[in-house]
Amino acid sequence: MSLSSVPRERVTEFAPRLAALLRDHLGQDVFRLEPDTVGVAGPEVADRILAARRAMETERPTFKPLHGHSISKTEASAVTRTVGHDVRAALAGPLPEDVDVDLSGSWPLTGHLFLRDLILGGDPYRLRMLMSRNLELTPKLTWSVIAVGAALPGWPRPAPHLTGLAARAAEAVGYQNRRYAMGIYRRAAAPVCFTVSTLVANALWLGHPFEDGMPNRHIIHESLRLLPPSWNILRNASPEYPAIDGRIGEGDDVLVLPLLFHRDPTLWDAPECFRPERWNGLDPDTAPGYLPFGHSSERCWGRHMVMPLAELLLDLVRKSGLEVDRDQHVGKVPLLGLLGVEDVRLTKRA
Ligand code: HEM
Repeated sequence: MSLSSVPRERVTEFAPRLAALLRDHLGQDVFRLEPDTVGVAGPEVADRILAARRAMETERPTFKPLHGHSISKTEASAVTRTVGHDVRAALAGPLPEDVDVDLSGSWPLTGHLFLRDLILGGDPYRLRMLMSRNLELTPKLTWSVIAVGAALPGWPRPAPHLTGLAARAAEAVGYQNRRYAMGIYRRAAAPVCFTVSTLVANALWLGHPFEDGMPNRHIIHESLRLLPPSWNILRNASPEYPAIDGRIGEGDDVLVLPLLFHRDPTLWDAPECFRPERWNGLDPDTAPGYLPFGHSSERCWGRHMVMPLAELLLDLVRKSGLEVDRDQHVGKVPLLGLLGVEDVRLTKRA
């Protein structure tokens, strides 16, 4: 299935399973996806499912157990505060000279490398290498890199130029603690670099060039609507769910699908159109059926750092004289945990 977006000559091509979800279930509230999994695309049911109980630790995106060990709320909160501080520090300073400000090339990779260098540029290579996109391909590879990194001599020492995240890692003593520290570094820094660059690549694909004066924030919200990086939110079977809707069985996992209700025609005018101006009169925190950062009961802790970073990056592109390659007419969205258009090519304006 292809959905056209603005500008008109660009076509967003979803992977077959995503296309089938959109084709077969848009506008439905509850439907069976697998023998043991129910999909939810109705905003009201989604709201009740997500409000029914807190996410269990295995369902969490960022701080699910690491090497079999639970990450306590206290630690998760301290790590999130630390990376938030690192992001604010990077945003407060001038762009460091060694940050590559040529943003032309293939996105989201180009944006990812920019953010990595901007935020983590001073960190030791063994930590920064955990931001390699190749590691996304197989978690096994990530754990091998971590195992080797933790065992190598010359573990980083605390130093003023390190990010707070690297400083936490530098305090780790012994192989197991170092391994764990590298895992936490990756868990916390990855959503900053990977997800934000994906989000901005999606926005560029959907709408660049943008109208002069259109706030970056509106553009990002509209991009989060049409291509939400967290396109599904999983909740494992729970006794609360059959009571909410009889079509959900006791053993059914529930996949809540923002990708679908973000396009529900009963909620959105011209749902398939990229219209950042719709956010002039809408509050993203309360707009019904808009959950790019999860439910209000436990919304993403990282959103306050994600938004300014995404706006900064988008702003740099808008001022750069770059444009989406005029010869690129198709943007492919693969079936991955993180929803985004792959390989958006930015080139010098013709
Ligand atoms: C564009 C970027 C991001 C998006 C779209 C996003 C999306 C989400 C969503 C949908 C949830 C709710 C999940 C659920 O209810 O199961 C969530 C939760 C959460 N997010 Fe984010 N997130 C982003 C970036 C970040 C960053 C940068 C951090 C921090 C390093 C972060 C930390 C968290 C935490 C701590 C939670 C609470 C659940 C948990 O413990 O994992 N997120 N996020």
